[in-house]
Amino acid sequence: MSKSNEAKKKQANVVLMLTGSIACYKSCELISRLVKEGHSVRCVATEAALQFIGAATLEALSGNPLQVGMFDAKMNIDHVSLNKWADLFLVCPATANTINKLAAGLAEDLIGATFLANNFKKPFWIAPAMNEGMYLHPVTSRSIGLLRELGCFIFEVGEGRLACGDVGKGKLLEIDLIWEKMQEVLR
Ligand SMILES: Cc1cc2nc3c(=O)[nH]c(=O)nc-3n(C[C@H](O)[C@H](O)[C@H](O)COP(=O)(O)O)c2cc1C
Repeated sequence: MSKSNEAKKKQANVVLMLTGSIACYKSCELISRLVKEGHSVRCVATEAALQFIGAATLEALSGNPLQVGMFDAKMNIDHVSLNKWADLFLVCPATANTINKLAAGLAEDLIGATFLANNFKKPFWIAPAMNEGMYLHPVTSRSIGLLRELGCFIFEVGEGRLACGDVGKGKLLEIDLIWEKMQEVLR
């Protein structure tokens, strides 16, 4: 890319939200690519996500403090200020639990409260990752359908060997494909 094109490129503020899936490690690649391209990243993780990825990794990759609980804002990073700051929200990986909670409008955690406060003013994208049974469950299907209808962009899932050993649908979509879609907002 030429220097003049680089100068024209928009530097975006991305809020990357991680939930409790083995696929959390894959999001590190996204954070790394975003930061390398000059974008700003703030990570939000659920308590369950921290069973799969360490706060130190997310903070080191993003260069920003990680936010987990709704009430532990170190730098005024709460659901309202995140909405003012962000150009794009991406829940990646998104568990069945979080997807179903978002569809129900629950605001008991930072992801849910941020989603409601956003109210589709900024793009809110969701990349599901789960076992096939959870993905095809009618409750999850209904939640995904409702969130799409309301205006969320929901990535497809991949197929293949899942972390639980089963083969089927539900893997996090390949990071390259998520990255490709993100270029719509980042350029
Ligand atoms: C080893 C292991 C892997 C898991 N992987 C997933 C997953 O990929 N997707 C999913 O929806 N839930 C998965 N779960 C279950 C979630 O972590 C659990 O439902 C949790 O409450 C999700 O909370 P959160 O949505 O607040 O992050 C896994 C649980 C374990 C123990």
